[in-house]
Amino acid sequence: MFMEIKGIKNSDKIKLILSFTEYSKLMPGSKKEIKKVTTHILQEMKNKGEKISMLTAYDYSMARIIDNAGIDVILVGDSASNVMAGHETTLPITLDQMIYHASSVVRAVNRALIVVDLPFGSYQGNSKEALQSSVRIMKESGAHAVKLEGGKEVKESIERILSAGIPVMGHLGLTPQSIYKFGTYSVRAKEKVEAKALLEDAELLEKSGCFGLVLEKIPANLATSVSSRVKIPVIGIGAGGGVDGQVLVLHDMLGITNEFSPRFLRRYANVYESMTKGVKKYISDVKARDFPNANEQY
Ligand code: KIV
Repeated sequence: MFMEIKGIKNSDKIKLILSFTEYSKLMPGSKKEIKKVTTHILQEMKNKGEKISMLTAYDYSMARIIDNAGIDVILVGDSASNVMAGHETTLPITLDQMIYHASSVVRAVNRALIVVDLPFGSYQGNSKEALQSSVRIMKESGAHAVKLEGGKEVKESIERILSAGIPVMGHLGLTPQSIYKFGTYSVRAKEKVEAKALLEDAELLEKSGCFGLVLEKIPANLATSVSSRVKIPVIGIGAGGGVDGQVLVLHDMLGITNEFSPRFLRRYANVYESMTKGVKKYISDVKARDFPNANEQY
């Protein structure tokens, strides 16, 4: 709707309309045209040889920062069980808790594809439950896809979830939900038999319709062969540089956690240190009656 503004030249009217368009882009609530990342775009990235960036997030504020920074995929990982809730393993986190984390992330994100982990006990051994859990995640959080761990043993669950139109991402190699079966968090598939089984599982996941695959903590040359053997994007964590993209746990790569230092982890910041410094300064300012000062009160 345009108002007739009397006494203004046509060229100035055009300038006014253009500047209103620019202004409206900046108004709260107005959204810039953003090309959202989809599973199809990830496939195109692999086809073009463009690497995919993926990080975890579990809450609104962190998700907002990494989405605005341009991350391609956000994983609402069940590692929330470790880094958010302080559990030793990923096993205790519940479907309700995953949905809570996922919906906080969804509210923050404009561009990234949001993938949510199906938690332990919500899909294994029962494909109907796998579908119900996935439907709850999609309906109640607004996320775009689910991820689950395992190969042939979860094939039926994957197919049933896909039959409802829900994109599924696989996860092979070190699968933390099976930690009590493995006994350790050490590198997987170093031996020929396990490496062959992993390759077969990767092909099966592709054939079942997974749009992508995470490979965790396996030898780099094996991960490179998987990535060239399957057409779908392969994202690695501790799986070397020969895959189609990388994922890290946000709290580890930012140095929020400081007690976990596997070889594959590169720290891009030391947030633990800078937060400690900030909090210590705040405490001493309060104790010294320096905060708040005259300008920081009403
Ligand atoms: O839960 C998680 O953070 C994950 C990544 C390690 C891939 O599954």
